[in-house]
Amino acid sequence: MKNIIIVSLLAIIAVPAISQNIAVRNQVNAAADKIEPKVIAWRRDIHEHPELGNNEVRAAALIAKHLESLGIEVKTGIAHTGVVGVLKGGKPGPVVALRADMDALPVIERTPVAFASKVKVQYNGKETGVMHACGHDTHVAILMGVAEVLAGMRKDLKGTVKFIFQPAEEGVPHGEEGGAEMMIKEGVLQNPAVDVIFGLHINSQTEVGKIKYRPGGVMASVDDMKIIVKGRSAHGAYPWSAIDPIVASAQIINNLQAIVSRNLNITENPGIVTIGAVNGGNRGNIIPEQVEMLGTIRALKTEDRKMLIQRVREVVTKTAESAGASVEVIIPYESSFPVTFNDPALTAKMLASIEQSAGKDNVSITLPQTGAEDFSFYQEKVPGLFLFLGGMPKGGNKLTAPSHHTPDFFIDESGLKLGVETLSNLTLDYMDMDQKSVKKK
Ligand code: NI
Repeated sequence: MKNIIIVSLLAIIAVPAISQNIAVRNQVNAAADKIEPKVIAWRRDIHEHPELGNNEVRAAALIAKHLESLGIEVKTGIAHTGVVGVLKGGKPGPVVALRADMDALPVIERTPVAFASKVKVQYNGKETGVMHACGHDTHVAILMGVAEVLAGMRKDLKGTVKFIFQPAEEGVPHGEEGGAEMMIKEGVLQNPAVDVIFGLHINSQTEVGKIKYRPGGVMASVDDMKIIVKGRSAHGAYPWSAIDPIVASAQIINNLQAIVSRNLNITENPGIVTIGAVNGGNRGNIIPEQVEMLGTIRALKTEDRKMLIQRVREVVTKTAESAGASVEVIIPYESSFPVTFNDPALTAKMLASIEQSAGKDNVSITLPQTGAEDFSFYQEKVPGLFLFLGGMPKGGNKLTAPSHHTPDFFIDESGLKLGVETLSNLTLDYMDMDQKSVKKK
């Protein structure tokens, strides 16, 4: 216990004070104030013209044009439609990456706003609407704003800023590659090599003006699975001559429930094992030959992720075996994301910066989220910090505010300016602290 106290005291002492001077902070605030109407206009434009993953052609052109107008070096066509801008500061220092995702979702918009999307596409063989129902339009507009703020301070910038506009966070069309993983494969963290990465997600159930964060695992890893239980078909009236994959599947589903409750230290982190689809048979008096199941495994810590996957394999295999059935377990089946893990040291170091941007009372720790985010792929390579930014109107009820990915999803645009300030200040503060630590060496 004592050791813990001493260690945590040391941790508090070791956190450097934010050194960015007030004049610089005021400069950022003034610039963000001035840019706010533009940020909102960009957001509305992108919102009205949403594009699905790997198709963000219009948004990419808008972004590239803006960055070029600021004199920022621009590369386009990365991982299909990604855009990367490199802003070299007047002074030497670290490379800070800032990331925004650009894609929309196959959702039919139902909000009353004048700039609501009317876009229709063919998706999985059906006509559907396209909507920025996760707020990635706000992420793009905020990062375009940050680029303008920081480009205006280029002379005094102690390092390089890499603006990463990433396609397809929500997933890719079947059979395609994309998103953060592909951006990294195509070298987005190299030339110049990125030292640290910051990102944020707007949140429709957090009040404007507020920021939430969490050190360590903040969003879950995802590994989806397909389980094929193979038995022997028979007449339903003569089950003794069958190897019944339906009963074996029922046992598998039940046994899977014990993994989280019995194998995971739930006092540390949550975990999820869900079966979401069971398909087998077509008639009451026929025992079918096989059953197929689909599911998802989620964890907040890499070690837990490995353990859960291993236990799922064991439990499924042994349960099927005990029924005399054979089984195929495919993990991952279609998607596999790491844990979105906020480097604890980096989070501690940057907390004062966030608090100064939003006001101390407006910054709080969030519960871990069992949803996933492909920002996690960058964090596997470099230390990163991912925040949640309030987008719910003041006085709103977080229990009834429309959630992400729904037709009524709504963002109060008065929250965007804080996003511009927070990312700008994180960049400037990180560069400042880096200079001080280099001097000490
Ligand atoms: Ni999202």
